Amino acid sequence: MKNYRPTWAEINLDALYHNLQIAQKHAPHKTIIPVIKANGYGHGAVKIMKFLIEKGVDYFSVSTLEEALELRKINCNVHLLMMGPIQKNDLEAASKHDIEITLYDEEIIQHVLSSKLSLTCHLKIDTGMHRYGLMDEKFIIQAIEKLQNKTNIDLKGIYTHFATADSDEEFYNTQVDRFYKLLIKLKVKPPVIHMSNSSSTLNHEKDFDFTTYVRYGISLYGLTLESKKHNLKPVMKLKTRIVTVKSLKKDECVGYSQTYCAKEDEIIGVLPIGYADGFLRRNKHGDTEIQKRRYPLVGNICMDACFVKIDDSIKVGDIVTLFGGLITTDEVAKRNKTINYEIVTSISYRVPKKYVRRSS
Ligand SMILES: Cc1ncc(COP(=O)(O)O)c(C=O)c1O
Repeated sequence: MKNYRPTWAEINLDALYHNLQIAQKHAPHKTIIPVIKANGYGHGAVKIMKFLIEKGVDYFSVSTLEEALELRKINCNVHLLMMGPIQKNDLEAASKHDIEITLYDEEIIQHVLSSKLSLTCHLKIDTGMHRYGLMDEKFIIQAIEKLQNKTNIDLKGIYTHFATADSDEEFYNTQVDRFYKLLIKLKVKPPVIHMSNSSSTLNHEKDFDFTTYVRYGISLYGLTLESKKHNLKPVMKLKTRIVTVKSLKKDECVGYSQTYCAKEDEIIGVLPIGYADGFLRRNKHGDTEIQKRRYPLVGNICMDACFVKIDDSIKVGDIVTLFGGLITTDEVAKRNKTINYEIVTSISYRVPKKYVRRSS
């Protein structure tokens, strides 16, 4: 569909590829599985997958079966791992469309063991995150042997997930230790052994010789929660244009509830983006970038619009970057009292994406 709005998320595919190469450098000899759940962390899963396939990637992970099936329609050869919980009634769809599923508790394992469907599975081990995964070592070892003995089941992978890879090294090491100690007890290990997320990939994966794959999410998109930025490049820039300008006299106010009133004669630019686009009301005291300079947002953010205080060097039609440039996604996350993951995944379906790359 043609895009009519002067508001868009610019997605830089060259930056995305650069970030993939950073992961590969830190995880030599390992296969990177890009995590493209939640519509590629808001960047557009279909486009991201197509681009990465061109670059030679053939394994992707998502959270839900819907996400996996949407991607399967696009490509029938890539490996697609569904990391979220599969329901027993959905095993048939996973089997039919060759979606690799995660076995996350004892009940689903019983269903899989009694099923005649052909299923490719990854066993998820809970080493401390306490979300999805198995904890009882005796049960895990027996389940692995039973699954490996079934001809309709391919127990392709085993994995765990870190709770504190970017925050608490001691607990991170505890999780690594628990996973390793389990693996060495297995008679036959599944070939796809993975535990690292972005932070663990960039900081530690080189030190591990017992894993074969990593699941790389947020840093593929150029972001991290760490202070060390690893030379990552942000992929998404949220942009809009000034569509109209208001000249306010001293004491005249803008927007709902009149929360901002001019302290002197002022110029206000109106931006056609609001909280229904995922640019939330908490942004009201933040800055924007126009012509490489900072200009403050003023007044309440509306559903479809917001206001920026400008000067007479700024004109209707000028591009305003809300994050991803001078105003980093981290700055916006801080202002929203959240993490950068939430900022990019919150950008709503209403914001069209423009993909840019050198060779487009
Ligand atoms: C199971 C699992 N693996 C990997 C990832 C990727 O983590 P990150 O985005 O921190 O790289 C996630 C993200 O939430 C996840 O849930």
